Amino acid sequence: MDQKRPFIIRESEGTKYYCACGRSQTLPYCDGSHKGSGKEPYAVTIETEKNVAICGCGLSAKLPFCDGAHKALHQH
Ligand code: FES
Repeated sequence: MDQKRPFIIRESEGTKYYCACGRSQTLPYCDGSHKGSGKEPYAVTIETEKNVAICGCGLSAKLPFCDGAHKALHQH
């Protein structure tokens, strides 16, 4: 993952699979590219439609969600 800010998405109800390996062509979602990487996507069940912030920088301690850690990338 090389995006330095979160993906803000309006998610509908259901289970979503977010990429954990960084290879997906459809970030932040899993597209199956993790095969062979030893990583599995994050499965998140959305109970009711809501906005989510999915980490794009890979530094969050609460993956797959953004926890604000990307701010450190902008302090230069
Ligand atoms: S994008 Fe915000 S912590 Fe990674």
